[in-house]
Order: sequence, then structure tokens, then C-alpha cells
Amino acid sequence: MGTVVAFVSQKGGVGKSTLARALAREAAAGGLSVKLADLDTQQGTSLDWQRARLAASIEPIVSVEPFGNAAQALKAAASYDLLIIDGPARTSSATLEIAKAAGLVVQPSGPSLDDLRPAVREFHALVKAGIPANRLTFALNHIGTDAEESDARAFLEEAGYPVLAGYLPERPAYRRAQNGGHAVTETKFAALNARADALMQSLVERVNADG
Ligand SMILES: Nc1ncnc2c1ncn2[C@@H]1O[C@H](COP(=O)(O)OP(=O)(O)OP(=O)(O)O)[C@@H](O)[C@H]1O
Ligand SMILES: [Mg+2]
Repeated sequence: MGTVVAFVSQKGGVGKSTLARALAREAAAGGLSVKLADLDTQQGTSLDWQRARLAASIEPIVSVEPFGNAAQALKAAASYDLLIIDGPARTSSATLEIAKAAGLVVQPSGPSLDDLRPAVREFHALVKAGIPANRLTFALNHIGTDAEESDARAFLEEAGYPVLAGYLPERPAYRRAQNGGHAVTETKFAALNARADALMQSLVERVNADG
């Protein structure tokens, strides 16, 4: 059984697909056999991204597949070193099902209290439903300033959850990169790639520490 890392959130647009793709890209580049499972069948955004990536002949190839639910995706987990679940937003029952099966559950969050409060409630609900808190972690995204980042980090840590080191600043270049089938570690800007790399590095360390 391979490692399963799931990206979930209460709010939409926080960066689940963005971070799931970046992790898949980095794992594939590192030589792991990896599957990115797109559970957001309504949107299929990671599938669209893979199509753009293939059309532009971007290496390494990242394997993406749609699944109707977590159980179906998990059946595939045995065949890979790493199964990455790109979850749908606002579906508490699906999120619980995904979290039960994942070795690590990552919830991206923006820095406003409007983002942070429901994000914390979502993790509280998972803990209440029996998911061990040490399998949950936050990742900060859509960050404007350093002050905003440190305030958000403090809020989440105070709520009792770890937050990955590093973060993604809010940058149009991250959107543009993904529009063209690239991951956020593959933009045209070295400094932005380094930011995304640092966040992915702390995620990989966390995965390895747990596995
Ligand atoms: N740091 C960032 N800077 C700029 N744009 C970003 C950043 N992170 C994500 N985006 C953009 O924000 C939008 C939402 O991101 P993404 O699709 O990763 O979120 P999501 O959590 O998967 O959303 P959904 O809930 O709809 O599945 C996308 O257009 C993405 O390109
Ligand atoms: Mg998504």
C-alpha cells in the first residue's frame, strides 16, 4: 500500500488542486510512481491541467485520473508509491471518507479570518469524527505579506494544528503557470519557484516523517 496524501478544504478555491499538482510534479520528478486522483468530478480541474501539460509536452509526465469517490481512488493506491487526492470543497462526508484513508490530510487556507475560521472548524470536525490530529496539517496560500503569513500561522497553531513551513504568496504568475500545464514549482520566475519548492519540501518531510 503506497502513501496517501489528501488535499481537502471547507472553502473552495484555497489551493487544493494547486498544491496537489505541485506535489505530484515533484514526486514524479523525484522518480516516485505517483497518481494524482481528481475527486472533483464536477470540475475535473486537475484533469484539464494534465491535458494542457501533455499538449505542451512538459516533463515529467504526471499521471492524473478521475475517481467518483475516495474508496475507488484508494483501490488504486496499492499500485503507486504515492497517491495524491485532490478533493472537492464543501463536502463534509466526502472529506471524512478521504481523511479516514489518508496518511496525511493537508488543508490549504488563505490568511483572512473568513478563511481561517471555517478551516479550523473543518479540522475540529475531523478530529471529533475520530481522525488523529497528528495526521492533519495546514498549508498557507494566497498570502499577501509576511505579517499576514505570521498572523495566520499563529492563529492555526493556537487552534492546535501544525502548519507546513513556507507558503505560497498570491501571484498571477502561479495562475498563468497552471493555465499552461505547469506546476507552481515551474513558473518563469526563480524566486516564485523557490517559494513553492520550499513549501513542497516541508510537505515531503512531513510525509516521510509520518510514513
Ligand atoms: N498563490 C496563488 N497565487 C495566485 N493564484 C493562485 C494561487 N494559488 C491558487 N491560485 C489560483 O486560485 C484558483 C483556485 O486554486 P485551486 O484551483 O488550486 O483551488 P481549489 O482549492 O482546488 O479550488 P476548488 O475548491 O474550486 O477545487 C486557481 O485559479 C489557481 O490558479
Ligand atoms: Mg480544486
